[in-house]
Amino acid sequence: MGKPTFYITTPIYYPNDRLHIGHAYTTVAADAMARYKRLRGYDVFFLTGTDEHGQKIQTRAAQAGLEPKPFLDPIIEWIQGLWQKLNISYDDFIRTTEDRHTKVVAEIFERLLAKDDIYLSEYEGWYCTPDESFWLERELKDGKCPECGREVQFVREESYFFRMSKYVDRLVQYYEENPGFIEPVGRKTEMLKNFIQPGLQDLCVSRTSFDWGIHVKSDPKHVVYVWLDALTNYITAIGYGSDDVAQQEKFQKYWPADVHVVGKDIVRFHSIYWPIILMALDLPLPKKVFGHGFFLAKGGKMSKSKGNVIDPLQLVDRYGRDAFRYFLLREVPFGQDGIFTPEAMVERLNYDLANDFGNLIHRTVAMLGKFNDGVVPHPNESAGADDELRSVAEAAVSSVENAMDQMQFSVALTELWTLVRRANKYIDECQPWKLHKEGQTERLHTVLYNMVEAIRLAGVVVQPFMTDAPVTIKAQFGWSDDDFAWHRLAFGDGPSGQRVAQAAPLFPRLDVEKEIEALEEMTGAKELQKQNNEVGAKPQDETKDPGKPQIGIDTFDQVELRVGQIKTAAKVEGADKLLQFQVDLGFETRQIVSGIAKYFTPEELVGKKVIVVANLKPVKLRGVQSQGMILAASQGDTLTLATVPDSMPNGAIVK
Ligand code: MSP
Repeated sequence: MGKPTFYITTPIYYPNDRLHIGHAYTTVAADAMARYKRLRGYDVFFLTGTDEHGQKIQTRAAQAGLEPKPFLDPIIEWIQGLWQKLNISYDDFIRTTEDRHTKVVAEIFERLLAKDDIYLSEYEGWYCTPDESFWLERELKDGKCPECGREVQFVREESYFFRMSKYVDRLVQYYEENPGFIEPVGRKTEMLKNFIQPGLQDLCVSRTSFDWGIHVKSDPKHVVYVWLDALTNYITAIGYGSDDVAQQEKFQKYWPADVHVVGKDIVRFHSIYWPIILMALDLPLPKKVFGHGFFLAKGGKMSKSKGNVIDPLQLVDRYGRDAFRYFLLREVPFGQDGIFTPEAMVERLNYDLANDFGNLIHRTVAMLGKFNDGVVPHPNESAGADDELRSVAEAAVSSVENAMDQMQFSVALTELWTLVRRANKYIDECQPWKLHKEGQTERLHTVLYNMVEAIRLAGVVVQPFMTDAPVTIKAQFGWSDDDFAWHRLAFGDGPSGQRVAQAAPLFPRLDVEKEIEALEEMTGAKELQKQNNEVGAKPQDETKDPGKPQIGIDTFDQVELRVGQIKTAAKVEGADKLLQFQVDLGFETRQIVSGIAKYFTPEELVGKKVIVVANLKPVKLRGVQSQGMILAASQGDTLTLATVPDSMPNGAIVK
């Protein structure tokens, strides 16, 4: 009998931009799971890749003045570099532009056409290009994409459709028979309530208004809808539809997938459309779709326009990948949303890594050096404190296993840390320095050995999460591969007699203030703060102002000034200086908060034409979102708004 298999996937990423910590989160989580299963003896296949077709990519490439492929290649290289830096142990990286994928997708399309699961008709409805998703009128939220809140476009074009409705009963039956198929379970309820019960529409599966995609063989003016193309990567990557026998065997070996790890925004595609496509192909369905939550930044969802996108590379460069991976998986229960704050990151690293784990190792190595010549002693008969440490250790290991089987990474780490903390307490209680002083050598040896055992167990169990520290610890303590294997996790099963190397602390303590400042700089939080302060700032005294340094026209050109009209104005509760406005910019209405309450009543401003800085990063002022700035001239205690005649239309550019 061969090893049991475990096939795990991440979503394939859109390479239209640099990835941020939200994307790294999906991948690090899947990597932790893949590593855990390998440690438990599974034959793991871990897949990731990139989703390279579709309207969004075609537009971004055109904006960059490039053909899609040369536009994509350096981004893919960057993404692979990021995964390398995070030590992502994927077994394969699929690009949807590769032949092994495109050929098979084109064939699948023809098969489904021949089967009449796909038919030709006309699509008329809404399309969200950033999400590449179709929406019905009734599904829109305030006329915008219900998923991401962005503008949607009305589309009318000849399209092929997939008969989703034909399979919906079987899908619901599958949900019922496999209660663990969608996790967390709340997401299954959402799928049923929002998409299945209202009546599942047939899915539009081709487009004709652009051509960057896989062309339909029998009707080449159509390209295959990017989601049908993308989802299929999970089978093409492992050899489905290949002529090569080894590839076919690989498919037989690994399919169906054990788990697709995805973010909550794309659970719909993975738990409704994907299983139905597989049913139409007469293939078994994946065992699980895990929809994790979002990692948010100050200011909410990370986005370029908000300027709050957090770059994983910067964090890894400063803190190391172990610390970064640990933080992502420890901070937020997997499945829920969480927020990234510099304070939380620094605290976690200081408390859990420097104080707890780092300190345990450092103290142990130092005491071994001082009291036993750097050698791990052989233990003698155990006492009560030892038994307690052992039972905490064994309970921690089995709790970690339970939590990992449910993909509860933060729970697994919390459980593991009960051992780390108990071991530190054990040292305080047993006081090896006192035993040494009093010449109680037998007892000292047992205590030192147990300290080392606690580290061995923690080091083995932490391997799915951290990839560098366990390697260092293993070498430092002179453990063999076997000493450091999961099957040797019984407390007391570790060797003695080997020499331990002295080394610098694994996780240095961070200077809280300095790090928070650096992180705020890195994550844009400082910029947001600065803008907040500026709004409430005193008008400047012009006569003393030395002026700002000169700028070139290019710099000035980056500022977008537009005519806007104040539609509504109101005081911001609890803030004397602030007024909040809805300002019509022609193409959209913006909420802007301004520190001018001292100079105007809200009523006198309604209807005024003003000049707005339209491309300022949004900020929250006293909890109210502000997206732009209204220009005003001030001197001493007087202030007037910069205005334009009423004849100038809203949205007009000011230069
Ligand atoms: N290309 C599609 C997936 C196709 S899979 C057949 C796609 N790509 S994506 O690049 O936009 O997103 C990839 C993954 O990153 C998704 O699982 C998404 O949920 C996740 N995340 C993007 N932003 C995120 C956060 N801020 N937080 C956590 N995960 C987030 O969707």
